[in-house]
Amino acid sequence: MTHQIELSGVNKYYGAYHALRDIDLKIKKGSFVALVGPSGCGKSTLLRSLAGLESISAGDLVIAGERMNNVPPRKRDLAMVFQSYALYPHMTVEQNLTYSLRIRGVKKAEAKKAAEEVAATTGLSNLLHRYPRELSGGQRQRVAMSRAIIRNPKAFLFDEPLSNLDAALRVHMRKEIRSLHDRLGATSVYVTHDQIEAMTMADHVVVMRQGVIEQQGAPLDLYDRPVNKFVAGFIGSPAMNFIPATVGPDSRSLVLDLGTPQVIPLDRSMPDAERLIVGLRPEHLRIVSDHEAMLRLPVGVVESTGSTTYITSATQPENNIVVGERQQLSHGQMISLAFDPWHLHLFDEASEQRIEDVGR
Ligand SMILES: Nc1ncnc2c1ncn2[C@@H]1O[C@H](COP(=O)(O)OP(=O)(O)O)[C@@H](O)[C@H]1O
Ligand SMILES: [Mg+2]
Repeated sequence: MTHQIELSGVNKYYGAYHALRDIDLKIKKGSFVALVGPSGCGKSTLLRSLAGLESISAGDLVIAGERMNNVPPRKRDLAMVFQSYALYPHMTVEQNLTYSLRIRGVKKAEAKKAAEEVAATTGLSNLLHRYPRELSGGQRQRVAMSRAIIRNPKAFLFDEPLSNLDAALRVHMRKEIRSLHDRLGATSVYVTHDQIEAMTMADHVVVMRQGVIEQQGAPLDLYDRPVNKFVAGFIGSPAMNFIPATVGPDSRSLVLDLGTPQVIPLDRSMPDAERLIVGLRPEHLRIVSDHEAMLRLPVGVVESTGSTTYITSATQPENNIVVGERQQLSHGQMISLAFDPWHLHLFDEASEQRIEDVGR
């Protein structure tokens, strides 16, 4: 059996509110799965349903081959790591770590040994006698992780565990969590609203919206082939550009609506949809000389981080162009842009679904 967790047809209602809709999800043993989506889409509800902190209204939940729908949380053998750490303030790190073992009747010396072993893995060996208030945010997070590890659970469930940390520490901790996952050979389900966390940490990303799984797959597959405009706009930072368009009269060109229509000849036939949305990732737009122009736009805001320059168009402020070199550009200046046609994503304007590439 290779699936550690399997959900099929899972639905969850809070009263009349339909919080999870027909969730099908298979989580392989040893994999790192991220549940990602905007606030309120049902990520925590799904995680809490796995843990048994919420009961599901319909469907099946199987953990390690056993149907768990009605099994209480403590018998599911899953460990949850929260954003708020939930450490016992009056206990030392060691006592926080050994608590769950002690209440299960593990002998004191044995529990102490287990705590020391876990602390060595998570870099807490020198902090075992401190109290939570004497630790930094990152150290507290490690204690919370260690407390989960010591129970040797069937899977780790994380609910936005890094949200309270500053940006630099978040970047550090996401590597630390992933490397710990690898070393332990753990199975992890990780909830986040941050698509960068999801993309960088997970083997399998599940994108949710309003209780529905919109798409799931390997991070770069979602990036390269988003099934709809929502996933396309959610995955990737800065976000994909969206430009309304129609198919040209020869069926082999697109007419982009950028205030004024701009015709893009393409060496391939276009679908016969009425109105399209063209998606173009910011990094796929190049600033070119005027005679190579596919698009002409007036410069809006220019922001440089040193390595990267972000440019918005004065007429399309929601859209971005990203360039790797420094640019001397001023507001209102016209720039010429080009892109490779195979980088275009096409979506039906009405349904917002991806339109598959049509032949040449
Ligand atoms: N106990 C509850 N009772 C009623 N509605 C709830 C309850 N918990 C969550 N919800 C609603 O379910 C939806 C999903 O919530 P949640 O799973 O916490 O979202 P997320 O973690 O993705 O931000 C939200 O609209 C939220 O208001
Ligand atoms: Mg949540």
